Amino acid sequence: MSTFTKGISMFLLSILIMALLIMVALGFMLGFSHPLPWVLVFFVLIIPFVHDKVVAKRYLHWDNSMNTGIELIDNDHKKLLGLINQLQTATRYQIDDEMIENTLNELIEYTKYHFDREEQLMRINHYPGYEAHKELHKQMIKKVSQSVEGYKTDKAHTIDETLAFLKSWLVNHIKGRDQDYAPYLKIKKLD
Ligand SMILES: [Fe+2]
Repeated sequence: MSTFTKGISMFLLSILIMALLIMVALGFMLGFSHPLPWVLVFFVLIIPFVHDKVVAKRYLHWDNSMNTGIELIDNDHKKLLGLINQLQTATRYQIDDEMIENTLNELIEYTKYHFDREEQLMRINHYPGYEAHKELHKQMIKKVSQSVEGYKTDKAHTIDETLAFLKSWLVNHIKGRDQDYAPYLKIKKLD
């Protein structure tokens, strides 16, 4: 959602709340025993909860289907989820560009560091799908690096695209391809 679209939706939400409040005031003119204003009051009160639920859905949440059973990998994945959520917060509150750029850079650096550790574990465990998995990592780094470059020229558009890509790629990768190597990794630690 671009900054402009975010602004429009907040404006529409404010208009909706104002309209409901006016209708509540008018409704009470029918008398306090009339059900209509109370129904409207109910809607006014649930709007913040519904809004919070919608916002919460944009964030990534760890669940058991993401567990690989390898502590080092799971901790890295949790850290990556945290960084993506940090980026989500930074864009949601339109925190300054420098912070978004720093978070993106941190995310790329940590992703590289994590992929390297994953690949080391695959190598020392002679995982047969190592080359194909390594290629996926390479493509991911390339795509995110391109997005970061694009962010510098088209901030509002690129950051939303990057976030959507990161969220779906990371979750699908953790729940999918990373589960494939888990049974092969008998050595679970690096020196
Ligand atoms: Fe991976």
